[in-house]
Amino acid sequence: MEILRTLHSYFAYIVLILLIFAVFNALLGWLGKKEFTMHKDLRISLFAFILSHLQLLIGLIVFFVSANGLKAIQTLGMGGMNSAARLLAVEHPLTNILAIALITIGWSRHKKKDDSTAKFKSIAIFYGLGLLLILSRIPWGQWFN
Ligand code: HEM
Repeated sequence: MEILRTLHSYFAYIVLILLIFAVFNALLGWLGKKEFTMHKDLRISLFAFILSHLQLLIGLIVFFVSANGLKAIQTLGMGGMNSAARLLAVEHPLTNILAIALITIGWSRHKKKDDSTAKFKSIAIFYGLGLLLILSRIPWGQWFN
């Protein structure tokens, strides 16, 4: 299903921009000791949370329908894949599932805190780690081709 791969590919821009924005906003709020507001900070964090989960969902479907996902593992076997194939079929999916789990932890932890600085800190650290993980395993070469 080429359309899903295209969707996953374009959605990646939106998710990355939102995550970068959410992390910087949280860092500024944390270090600047700002107040965590519902109309701005909560919305930014929630938006990044929802869209990264949507990307996870699309990614999971792509994994099961694309020739470069599960099928590659089944036909080539773990040992038969070169590093590019392994990146697409194994490293990118696993790393990103872990990244979204970290983002989820950051989101849940921020909700349990009362203090603004603690909320910003939770978002900054966990969304930040998630973002770094995602960036570490993007198939850049394929994306820009
Ligand atoms: C959440 C952050 C994620 C981002 C930003 C992201 C981004 C990308 C990008 C940019 C590509 C290259 C698309 C292209 O060829 O133009 C890609 C491919 C792919 N992604 Fe993701 N992805 C994410 C999560 C996931 C997850 C969670 C999975 C699976 C569980 C997944 C599975 C795949 C697969 C299988 C491909 C290769 C598709 C193919 O070549 O046919 N992605 N992803």
